Amino acid sequence: MEWGMANRMAQLIQSDGRCCFLPVDHGYFQGPTKKLEEPRKTLEPLLPYADAIFITRGVLRSSVDPSNTKPIILRVSGGTSMVGKDLANEGITTSIEEAIRLNACAMGLSIFVGTDYEHESLLNLAKLVDEGEKYGIPVMAVTAVGKELGKRDARYLALSSRIAAELGARVVKTYWCEDGFEKVVSGCPVPVVMAGGPQVNTELEVFEFVYDGIQKGAIGVNLGRNIWQNDFPVAMIKAIRAIIHENASPKQAQELYDGIKSGELSVA
Ligand code: 5RP
Repeated sequence: MEWGMANRMAQLIQSDGRCCFLPVDHGYFQGPTKKLEEPRKTLEPLLPYADAIFITRGVLRSSVDPSNTKPIILRVSGGTSMVGKDLANEGITTSIEEAIRLNACAMGLSIFVGTDYEHESLLNLAKLVDEGEKYGIPVMAVTAVGKELGKRDARYLALSSRIAAELGARVVKTYWCEDGFEKVVSGCPVPVVMAGGPQVNTELEVFEFVYDGIQKGAIGVNLGRNIWQNDFPVAMIKAIRAIIHENASPKQAQELYDGIKSGELSVA
């Protein structure tokens, strides 16, 4: 691996081989999503606890202080919205020159396997990988699950993840699933990180799936709404970090969350 690529990967994936990425890119198709209406306010308290942030160039420029940040995974696909015809019809929205100017550590793009736009999104990925590899910038593929593919089953996730890796993604973001997640990970020859999806009912559910996914080989998370839509986002990210970087159990993570929430444990 070239030095630049190796250096960027090392900034993203920590020395323990794990990572806690914080995505705040949702506005690129959801608009001012709940609790991300003012990205700077959402992000600032969480930044110290994220290993990297996943973000569009617009929110990066407007809402992140360039002298006080974390490695950037630049969201470079888009062109659709919640109210448009088809969320899967994404293109590449940001040039490689812009990614270099913004000192991106990686670029992230969604693929939509099984949709009408499967072919386009996969060729977008391949093109982006070609550009990224020229300059030592890794690509994180986001295995999107469109409306019609709401069912997150292991066969589908394994298919999407493997294809993303075959096309050259250096990291694959996918979803955890209850049955067969270990096959999703073992069938994907590059590191897998887990997204959370819409906010679930209890914190413990999040801690349990993150813990289970790590036991089954995921290297960490790219987890957004279940952190920043929580009423105690700092407690949430600290508890999730503890599972990822300190091998905390779901119960220990819950205790940490409760302790910070009640003020018994300090935030620092
Ligand atoms: C949205 C994304 C997000 O980065 C990804 O879905 C993770 O966020 P969440 O945990 O909220 O699902 O790609 O476009």
